[in-house]
Amino acid sequence: MFRQTWAEINLSNIEHNIKLILNHFPKDTFFCPMVKANAYGHGDVKVAQFLEMLGVRHIGVCLIEEGLLLRQLGVSTDILVFRGFDSRGARKMIESKLTPVVSTWEQLETLIFLKEKTKIHIKFDTGMNRLGFEVAEVGEVLSRFKAQSHLELEGVLTHLYQSDDGLNPNGETVEQLSCFLNILEVFKSYAKNFHVLNSGGIVCKMLGASGILNQYDWGLRPGLLIYGYSPVLESGLDFKPAMTLQSRTNLIRNIKKGEGVSYGHTWKAPKDSKIAVVPIGYADGWHRILSNKTQVLWNGQKASLVGNICMDYLMLDVTGLTEEKENEVIFFGQSKMGTEISAANSAVDAQTITWEVLTSVGERVPRLYRK
Ligand SMILES: Cc1ncc(COP(=O)(O)O)c(C=O)c1O
Repeated sequence: MFRQTWAEINLSNIEHNIKLILNHFPKDTFFCPMVKANAYGHGDVKVAQFLEMLGVRHIGVCLIEEGLLLRQLGVSTDILVFRGFDSRGARKMIESKLTPVVSTWEQLETLIFLKEKTKIHIKFDTGMNRLGFEVAEVGEVLSRFKAQSHLELEGVLTHLYQSDDGLNPNGETVEQLSCFLNILEVFKSYAKNFHVLNSGGIVCKMLGASGILNQYDWGLRPGLLIYGYSPVLESGLDFKPAMTLQSRTNLIRNIKKGEGVSYGHTWKAPKDSKIAVVPIGYADGWHRILSNKTQVLWNGQKASLVGNICMDYLMLDVTGLTEEKENEVIFFGQSKMGTEISAANSAVDAQTITWEVLTSVGERVPRLYRK
């Protein structure tokens, strides 16, 4: 490795987060952590191999391609593929023992036509208006499926669109679950798993949501949570971020009061200043919108990002801050000095969400794994 920017992935924290979730639910609760989008930026192959080693029995991806990569690299756990498929995709999934999530009549008919033995999950749309059969189609879907002995129904699912409101008895989550309960009633003799709860739903249940959230042992599909962030802010739950995005630099320029920094000189030094040049840019996923807007940790202390972020570099005002031989810059995660900075804060500064900050970390940023 030649570049001085990398993401350290603490697998022990992923294990900790998983245990924190599982300890809260009955032992045989359906559990399918999401490793789509390169495991939310953490590296899907390594994370999937680690989850398999922990004994996790199902994992979720979006694309057939993501599932195939995991299979090629030896992951043998059940892999649910959430994105739709055509007949070419269906054949490939069956050949590679990937588990299709069926969301449309075309997909169901494709699998019926192929007559190959396969496990499937069926998805219903209870309000997200993205993927899944209409709720009103539940009876028809069941009759069509029932006639197919080669299709083994492993689960029925829906997706929550406002899952952090699960503690509100009049919220959208409660409404979606009530709707899904009708689907469960129809399918309960044919499927053993009814999975619904993403990170927000899981946290609400862990925080003691009552009513319908607690009435049934809903299956779990956590994404963000296993990587250490809760969608319900200040939940008080001890989830530990798994990724630390960091650089090292010893390139520091002394500039005079009034001099500008970076393209367009959008920042001008209010006094004689020390400017650190850090080898990470928007091509690495550190969004340009953060220019002049955020702080990072410089040797454990907060430093402001100044001037426009470039493709490969950004600059920090480190005037008055301590200097080391190798200066540590932490964008999010934990400094070796013990201080921390959260990707959730970067998300606020970048006017986005933590999911996007994590998944944005670019391909050319090496991931180093620690356990
Ligand atoms: C179908 C499905 N289930 C579960 C998840 C996990 O969501 P979260 O990261 O909020 O836990 C996602 C993520 O977008 C998803 O699309």
